[in-house]
Order: sequence, then C-alpha cells, then structure tokens
Amino acid sequence: MASASALLPRDFEWGFATAAYQIEGGVNEGGRGKSIWDTFCHLEPSRTKNANGDVACDHYHRFEQDFDLLGQYGAGAYRFSIAWSRIIPLGGRNDPVNEEGIRFYNQLIDSLLARGITPWVTLYHWDLPQALHDRYGGWLDVDEVQKDFEHYARVCFERFGDRVCNWITLNEPWIQAVYGYATGGNAPGRSSTNKQSTDGDTTTEPWIVGKALIMSHARAVALYNKEFRHTQRGVIGVSLNGDYFEPWDAEDPQDAEASERRMEFHIGWFANPIFLAKDYPTCMRKQLGDRLPEFTPDDFSLLAQAECDFYGMNYYTAQFAKHGTGEAPLTDVLGNVEELQHDKQGTPVGKESGLHWLRSCPDLFRKHLTRIYKLYGKPIYITENGCPCPGEDKMVKEEAVNDPYRIQYFQDHLDAICKSIEDGSVIKGYFAWSLLDNLEWSDGFGPRFGVTYTDYVTLERTPKKSALLLKDIIAKRQGPLSNGTH
Ligand code: BGC
Repeated sequence: MASASALLPRDFEWGFATAAYQIEGGVNEGGRGKSIWDTFCHLEPSRTKNANGDVACDHYHRFEQDFDLLGQYGAGAYRFSIAWSRIIPLGGRNDPVNEEGIRFYNQLIDSLLARGITPWVTLYHWDLPQALHDRYGGWLDVDEVQKDFEHYARVCFERFGDRVCNWITLNEPWIQAVYGYATGGNAPGRSSTNKQSTDGDTTTEPWIVGKALIMSHARAVALYNKEFRHTQRGVIGVSLNGDYFEPWDAEDPQDAEASERRMEFHIGWFANPIFLAKDYPTCMRKQLGDRLPEFTPDDFSLLAQAECDFYGMNYYTAQFAKHGTGEAPLTDVLGNVEELQHDKQGTPVGKESGLHWLRSCPDLFRKHLTRIYKLYGKPIYITENGCPCPGEDKMVKEEAVNDPYRIQYFQDHLDAICKSIEDGSVIKGYFAWSLLDNLEWSDGFGPRFGVTYTDYVTLERTPKKSALLLKDIIAKRQGPLSNGTH
C-alpha cells in the first residue's frame, strides 16, 4: 500500500561501483591478455585524450587500501567487474584459463568478505578480449561470441560462485553496441560516420552486436539457472542504462511519442527480449526493417530459459525528445528523435553538473524507475548513479574533496527512489558511481565521478565529503525491517 512518505527498506543494499579497466591498471601483469580497450587507448592519433588504463588507479596493487575505504564509508556491498582477459587471456572456450587471474579475483572476493562487504560481480564491462575480436570479429559474430561468453561465465560461476551470490552479466549493452559500432567513440571504435574510424557500418553493426549481447546474456543466465542456481542460491541480472525522456513540446503528441520511442530504442531493445522473452519493440522493427536481426524459435526458447532476478539500472540524467521530421537516416540509432536539454519554453531539464551530458533530474528519475518497474516487473537495483561536480575537473584536491553538488545529487536521487517506492516500485539497492575517480573511457582522466579523490600522479586516495555522508543519507531514509511483502 502506498504511504505518505515511503522509506527505503531496512535491508536495502548499498555501496559503490567500479569497473575493471577503469581502475585496475596492471595490464601486463598476472598473465592478463589484451582487451579491445587496451588497443583502443593506444591508437594514434589518440581517441581517448591520450589516456589509457595501463596504470589507471593501480587498484591491481592497491585493492586492500581501496577496500579499507569501503569499510570506512560503511558500504555493505561493492560492485566490480571481472576482466574477461585476466581469466581467459585469449577469451575463447578452448583457450586456457589463467590461474593467476583467478587468484587475483579470489583475493578481491575474500578480502571483501573478510570486511563483511557483499561482492556484486559484473562479468562484462566493455573489455572484450582482443583475441576474440581478431579471431572472428568479436561481438559481430553472434553465434561464436555467445558460446565463448557462456564458457567464460561458467568458469566464473565455478570458481567464484561459492562466495559470489550476486551476478550482473553485462554492463550497458547499449553503450557497447552504439558507441563501439555506431559512433565509434568507444572500443573497438567501428563506425561509418566517424572520421577517425576506418572500419565499420553504422547502419547494420550495432544491431548485430545488440543481438550478440542479448544472446550472450541469455546463455549465461540459462546456464546459471540450470547448473548453479540450486546450489549457489544467488541472483543474476543485467545492468541497462538509458536516460528518461520527456516531450520537448508538452502539447505535441508527436513529441510524446518520440519520448517513448527514444526509450524503446534504448531500453526496450534489450529489455523486451531479456525480461519479457519478446521481440524488439515494434517501433524498432518498423524503422529498421531487416537490419534488425530476427530471433529464431531456438533463440526465443533460450530467452525463455533465461529468467533473471533483477533489473540493474544505471541512471544519470534525463532529456527532452523532439520528433524528427521525415524519414530517419539509415545511420540513426535513436529512433528518429532529436535529444535536447531544454524544452520548447527554454526550461532546462535539470541543474548542470561537471559534464555537458549530465544534468541532475531527480523528478524524472522517479518517473523512470516507476515506468521501468511497471514495464518489466522485476525488483530494481540501481547499479550506477552519480556525477562530477561543476568545475571539479579543474579543482585541486583540497577543493575537490568538498563536493556539495554530489551530496545534493545523492540526496535528491535517494528521495526519488523513496517516491518511486511510494508509486509501488520494488527497489532493493543502490550503488553510487564511483568508489574512485577513474578513467572515464574516451574522456580520459578529466571527469571525476569518484567519492574518493584520486591523485593520478601519486595515486594517493582522499575521501570526499560525499563518501562519508552517503551512509547517513541512506540511514535517514530507512524504515523498520521490511515485512516480507516485497
Ligand atoms: C558506465 C561507467 C561510466 C559511467 C559515467 C556508465 O556509462 O558504466 O563505466 O564511467 O557511466 O559515464
């Protein structure tokens, strides 16, 4: 029953999130194989602002210290990703498993558990083994890559599943497909519209890659359900990103349709097959025709065996959608929609942060949560949420550790979660992005999303105020022990 001011459940899980390539470094250590990000970050001319993850935050050597920080911040959970190429350096199902890589992640897991922190493990955060890209085109070979991903998932369940009970198959498959194969802004940087890309076809590749990601997810979950769930008793899901969209012109029904279509192109693309075992949204079929790969009856039967436990939501911001006029170009990936940060009246969607694409829009976060819960009906964990403060990239440490914008952002977004719970959504956890300032992909070491300041010269870490406050921000919004109705 909705109450006047819903609270977070007592057993609400919370903590901080990271990803392997953004923090680990140690790229040539411990038998790790190359990933597509190693290659991408070393292209000349640079496509990543001359930055790379060779050292990053040196978490590979400093994880104990980083986990001490988690303890100091009061986190009960920590989300990190495993680098596929540390576990299977060449990536494939017939390639050797690297025991040193297994040992490294065993240490991480054990060290978290010793501190009473629950590990949440992402299997794939964009770092495909380079060898698979070279061998058969990586994500472009739908049949091959899903078998290799399934095998990699099996190794992880077998070797870590006695202690890891929370699995996320993929992080943001949309970004992998679109940035990797449509705009070329992320590894492997393929695109037919980006001047810096020499290979790729924006009109077809993102859609093929999307199917490969969906089927890889499905294989890993079906495997977990069949062979591991009954003994390991864990949960498994996927983390999908996607902004919330409002119509640019509140009076124009075509803009209302455009908002919905924009979200279907982003989220429904993956969520329909993954959570509903259904075909892609109708609006995608309509616009893309046979460029959108079909699901065969076998694919559907696999999707049906891949029922997962939760919807992992990565949410940062919202935008306005204005309907495109005329036919969408063949390279369009957005659903023939213009994305804007101001509506027709010139009202901004939210308060500016330290990054041009990110404005704080907590009211729309509430709508987003409520919409997603209604559509897909799975308990939601927010697996990423956070921001850089205005001007933070230019600040010295002493200034940066004082981060009122981030504190307000966390407060407002946690309030939005409470309001969506009031709307009837089941929301079970929250991970702030990120534990540390880290490599922000093609933006290099500019934007600082961390609750911990990283000095990239000395690699010293310093907690920002928000890191120490998140615990209280959450505790204030928690009620009595949940009554089991969820
Ligand atoms: C990704 C993170 C990234 C963050 C901020 C998400 O898209 O999962 O790796 O650092 O957003 O851009």
